[in-house]
Amino acid sequence: MSTPLTNTAKRLVHGDKAPSCNLVIFGAGGDLTRRLLMPALYNLVRTGLLPDRFSLIGVDRQDLTDEGFRDRLDQSVRSFASEKSYSVEFDETHWKHLLSQVSYVRGDFNDPDLYRTLKQRLDGENRNHATSENAIFYLAVASRFFGLVVDHLGQAGLVEEGPERYRRVIIEKPFGNDYESARALNQQILRTLHEDQVYRMDHFLGKETVQNIMVKRFANGIFEPLWNRNHIDHVQITVAETVGVESRAGFYEATGAMRDMVPNHVFQLLALICMEPPNSFCADAIRTEKTKALDAVHVINPLTDIVRGQYRNGSRDGKDLKGYREEDGIQPESLNETYVAMKLGVDSWRWSGVPFYLRTGKRMAQRSTEISIEFKRPPFSLFRDTQTEELEPNTLILKLQPDEGASLAFGAKIPGPAIQLGQVHMDFHYKDYFQNAPSTGYETLIYDCMIGDATLFQRADSVEAGWRIVQPYLDLCKAQPDALLEFYPAGGQGPTKADALLETSGRKWRKLS
Ligand SMILES: NC(=O)c1ccc[n+]([C@@H]2O[C@H](COP(=O)([O-])OP(=O)(O)OC[C@H]3O[C@@H](n4cnc5c(N)ncnc54)[C@H](OP(=O)(O)O)[C@@H]3O)[C@@H](O)[C@H]2O)c1
Repeated sequence: MSTPLTNTAKRLVHGDKAPSCNLVIFGAGGDLTRRLLMPALYNLVRTGLLPDRFSLIGVDRQDLTDEGFRDRLDQSVRSFASEKSYSVEFDETHWKHLLSQVSYVRGDFNDPDLYRTLKQRLDGENRNHATSENAIFYLAVASRFFGLVVDHLGQAGLVEEGPERYRRVIIEKPFGNDYESARALNQQILRTLHEDQVYRMDHFLGKETVQNIMVKRFANGIFEPLWNRNHIDHVQITVAETVGVESRAGFYEATGAMRDMVPNHVFQLLALICMEPPNSFCADAIRTEKTKALDAVHVINPLTDIVRGQYRNGSRDGKDLKGYREEDGIQPESLNETYVAMKLGVDSWRWSGVPFYLRTGKRMAQRSTEISIEFKRPPFSLFRDTQTEELEPNTLILKLQPDEGASLAFGAKIPGPAIQLGQVHMDFHYKDYFQNAPSTGYETLIYDCMIGDATLFQRADSVEAGWRIVQPYLDLCKAQPDALLEFYPAGGQGPTKADALLETSGRKWRKLS
């Protein structure tokens, strides 16, 4: 294990230019680097947050020169930037400056020589370009390489920290594929690294609206007094996609909706809703509260609390949609789930007795990521002679995708002599107030790692807490692959059986339309 963190660099504030560093991307020839990491770095240099003295070293097995690698990045960033320009002109000067700081090292992740070469390259960068000894190793590689690359980095002495240098490792998702594998991976990497050198990526946490959940709760006085079992009837979290499996058949067949979305993205949203206010806005204070929230979630009983589904053929907007089993690369008899819905309880003073309903699925009627907080009805109705009971309860909806904002539903009097009530919505759309900065969602996370802020990265205990909750479900599916599987038409609301999770207590899902 490397020496304890002794980096005494001054504490950086968000918005400062990041201190000089080297960024080493393993898997630099891959899809993630091309589509998301490089455009994010371009956005960072454009907005003046990347250090002036900076170097980017791409590592992959393809036979490329520095020049060849730069040409590839040039092509992909230009096409990405034109897709997502938000009417911002491509910034040649900054991009060319960034490209001039890029180089390439060819090698195999399994080969110890690669890490010796890297060490020399890093020393050279610092000697020739004064990029400092700070280094971030970004593992944009398949998950089977995470532990192996960290072992090699350790053996080559690449992750030793000192008073004048930090060494950090960003690890992509998926972090493990069940509780035991996540625990084993944590143990493996923590033999080489200290926890505060590890930045476990969940790019969902880089989204503005996800970060804003904390701001809404803790920077405003009106929500927190209501944020508990006395006032909240139940919470629904929805992550619905309209897309199917697309070109990721191999990955998705081995993963499924539960592993792909729930222990990471969906539980991060759950934790942000359930957590207690942290003592401070420090990474560890926040991460401790999030983990405590997940630790309080009941382990799922798959037989009573879960519905899993797979889309069959259907239609949306008059267009026919294939079933999952007919998609390219999918087994015709596949028992994989493309949808999962569950009911959870949280054993805490704040949430005892409040059900949390979570659902995520592909090929749904509407693309929507939202959290809906449904409040209790008033204790009795003053308006018995009207249709008050038919009114929907007060609901606060935090919308994350596609149209970011929030909406509060409440009852109001319909104008006229009779006392008749109608449902109204107070809507807030981000785009009406704030300009949308071009973003892949990775900018914040890469920058945060550069300034040493781990708030938006998952800590080992939080990752394990997520897997622990869903482990009985994974065990059941392993023992009995067709267990609980329901089918739903593509373009619909998901399996009808998922409705029963709520209907038994007189509740219902918000309609996706
Ligand atoms: N792509 C996304 O949108 C996305 C989103 C979220 C998370 N992630 C995560 O990010 C990571 C990378 O994903 P990706 O889609 O970029 O994968 P990818 O396209 O397969 O890229 C991985 C790169 O590593 C190279 N490589 C494989 N084995 C190697 C070895 N032994 N030595 C040296 N290079 C080797 C690959 O080369 P070959 O092409 O020759 O195999 C490829 O260029 C994964 O953990 C993934 O789960 C990706």
